[in-house]
Amino acid sequence: MRRSKKLILMLKDSIVAADVKPAGFDDKTQQMLQQIQTVTVIGSGTMGNGISHVFAQNGFKVHMMDINQSALDKALVTISKNMDRQVSKATLSEADKAASLARITTFTEMSEAVKNADLIVEAATENIDLKVKIFQELDKLAPEHCILASNTSSISLTRIASYTKRPSKVIGMHFMNPVPVMKLVEIINGYATDVKVTEVIVDLSRHLGKVPCVVNDYPGFISNRILLPMLNEAILALQEGVAGVEEIDTIMKLGMAHPMGPLQLADFIGLDTCYSIMNVLHMGFGNQKYAPATLLANMVQAGFLGVKSGEGFYKYTAGSKELVVSERFKHSRTF
Ligand code: CAA
Repeated sequence: MRRSKKLILMLKDSIVAADVKPAGFDDKTQQMLQQIQTVTVIGSGTMGNGISHVFAQNGFKVHMMDINQSALDKALVTISKNMDRQVSKATLSEADKAASLARITTFTEMSEAVKNADLIVEAATENIDLKVKIFQELDKLAPEHCILASNTSSISLTRIASYTKRPSKVIGMHFMNPVPVMKLVEIINGYATDVKVTEVIVDLSRHLGKVPCVVNDYPGFISNRILLPMLNEAILALQEGVAGVEEIDTIMKLGMAHPMGPLQLADFIGLDTCYSIMNVLHMGFGNQKYAPATLLANMVQAGFLGVKSGEGFYKYTAGSKELVVSERFKHSRTF
């Protein structure tokens, strides 16, 4: 059976079982679903390679695009290593791993990468000018029926869509890091997103083994409107010397059962990303309560970005899982 037909049958089943589908499964939605065979992922960083991993593992042909081949080669190695974790736990067979990797093709030319795309998921750096430029290009180069999704963590989908000639086919598909592990896909409707497009993305997300949650387009959506002020507050508490890095993280881990403390999570997300999301909230709501902590701004300016740069609130050594507080935060109480 062709993958698309199988997908539709599975989706129909899951919809009946879950009883969550509000608007039925009409011809237009079926047609759109049938069309989704090839998914282009723009960007091969942490999110891009995780998204490519999950689509490829679930039977989609994936075109992974980045501006340089070395980033793509590195991403393929990461995907292979992350699939090995699944193989070692017998949640993926060696044969399925090989088949999944074989579904991924890499591209450095956007025109080639999107030529036959039915869905594009953009996962480039969190920068509005860059995203606008990418979406203008995608709109020009991608087939007319293609849905343009962004993995943006805070930038307005309505704004991104307004630079295209297909705003009804622009939607947010916000995966969480690490993508193969985290169950949520936050789906963001832009002001003009067609309800049928939302239905297709909801059903696709389920097909990927994820739990979709649909929200509207306001700064930070839901996930980061709530998460980022908490991380920023932890940084403010550190800045004021209320407690040290370990104390703040231990309190939130053991007291609130969070898998990572807020400072470790900020390092994991990337302090530059945290800073840019806080700026989106600050500007979007015009409320001082969202102002990014000065310590966060300073660390970003100085290039201390967390895991990706090797140091943030903690110092990271390749191959080691030990959490070591950054030297700067070990002794002093005010920063
Ligand atoms: N690919 C595949 N599997 C992975 C993986 C990856 N990239 N990373 C971790 N795993 C698997 C491991 O193999 C392991 O599997 P089992 O439980 O089956 O053994 C499991 O995930 C846990 O991993 P570890 O044992 O290595 O480490 P851990 O127990 O400390 O968990 C963690 C790591 C899953 C990252 C956990 O600490 C966690 O959930 N942290 C919070 C993550 C979070 O909040 N993410 C959202 C960030 S916000 C965001 O992404 C959006 C935004 O816009 C900012």
